[in-house]
Amino acid sequence: MSAKEIKVPSKTLYTGAKMPAIGLGTFGSDKYSSDDIARAVYGAVSAGYRLIDCASVYGNEAKIGVTLEKLFQDKIVSREELFVTGKVWNDMHGDGQIEKSCKNSLKDLKIDYFDLYLVHWPFPNYHAPGCDGDSRNPDSRPFSVEEFMSVWRQCESLVDRGLTKHIGMSNMTVKKLEEVFPLCTVKPAAIEMELHPGFQQPELFQFVTSHGIVPIGFCPLGSPSRPKRDRTPEDVADTQMPEIVKIANTHNIHPVEVCLKWAVQRGQIPIPFSVKEKQYVSNLRCITEDPLTDEEMDEIRQADKNCRLVKGQVFLWPGAKSWEEIWDL
Ligand SMILES: NC(=O)c1ccc[n+]([C@@H]2O[C@H](COP(=O)([O-])OP(=O)(O)OC[C@H]3O[C@@H](n4cnc5c(N)ncnc54)[C@H](OP(=O)(O)O)[C@@H]3O)[C@@H](O)[C@H]2O)c1
Repeated sequence: MSAKEIKVPSKTLYTGAKMPAIGLGTFGSDKYSSDDIARAVYGAVSAGYRLIDCASVYGNEAKIGVTLEKLFQDKIVSREELFVTGKVWNDMHGDGQIEKSCKNSLKDLKIDYFDLYLVHWPFPNYHAPGCDGDSRNPDSRPFSVEEFMSVWRQCESLVDRGLTKHIGMSNMTVKKLEEVFPLCTVKPAAIEMELHPGFQQPELFQFVTSHGIVPIGFCPLGSPSRPKRDRTPEDVADTQMPEIVKIANTHNIHPVEVCLKWAVQRGQIPIPFSVKEKQYVSNLRCITEDPLTDEEMDEIRQADKNCRLVKGQVFLWPGAKSWEEIWDL
């Protein structure tokens, strides 16, 4: 470990494996290039990050792979010290396609196994990269337990084949989990979901943790740079919530740091995105010092606005009325 490297705490998955308590997101929100992100991965790992949240749909795995190879060659980190998450995109849910997609991602990332491989969305609906919020795919379908389980069975076989150490899900609801959990042979180790002070999903969080599964929180800062398709006038900006600003002022820190301290202390793994060194270093450092008090944690709990940012309306199927149907509301 170099002198300026920050030591990241970890959480333990049900298998006994350790997962870093914070990671780096790699979705450029249609705003940052693959080169920007690959450079940030090198800087972030050099600064102490040990978890990288990747996905084939982010379109940057090949560039990140070159970075990972360099990190290993430069002996900044070994493969075993790094925790790499991958995700299968919605257009690769058919028979035999999960393994194909997983192997493609591994090849691009120049690694031979994932630590965690997630089903990115629980249905085969997809949209073209960079599409606008009104675009719809006429082939989209609602969630089906049978279709999901055929995807999950393929994920289970990735574990058997050593292509990933763990498997997990993303963008699920309590209702969907209740339906699929009894059918899983391999239990999900982690479930990725939108989590930030303005959208805490207390029921889903409680359901997941009570099953011994680690929640990973995406958009932990309220995704201020998210694409236009994921913005509506009602959205709350987490870093401007009065409770967050007040606590930030008390600690003399940026509101972003309050969001991250809250996330880690609550028990989820936040995966903030940034390509800016000052930001990603402070995002990592802040979780290792100056914790929030129990009172502050409680104040944030009460400040939940139930404000979902990634509504997923581009995945709606013909006949669906609104994005709420995706989330079983
Ligand atoms: N599973 C899923 O379906 C799913 C969905 C969405 C996201 N994700 C994952 O979650 C990751 C994080 O979500 P996200 O990227 O949407 O949002 P986010 O991490 O909440 O927000 C990222 C933005 O916050 C700003 N920021 C970061 N650190 C900061 C700091 N210290 N001070 C001030 N501003 C700061 C940056 O804005 P500027 O760039 O303007 O500086 C950055 O682009 C993604 O990258 C992706 O890996 C997964």
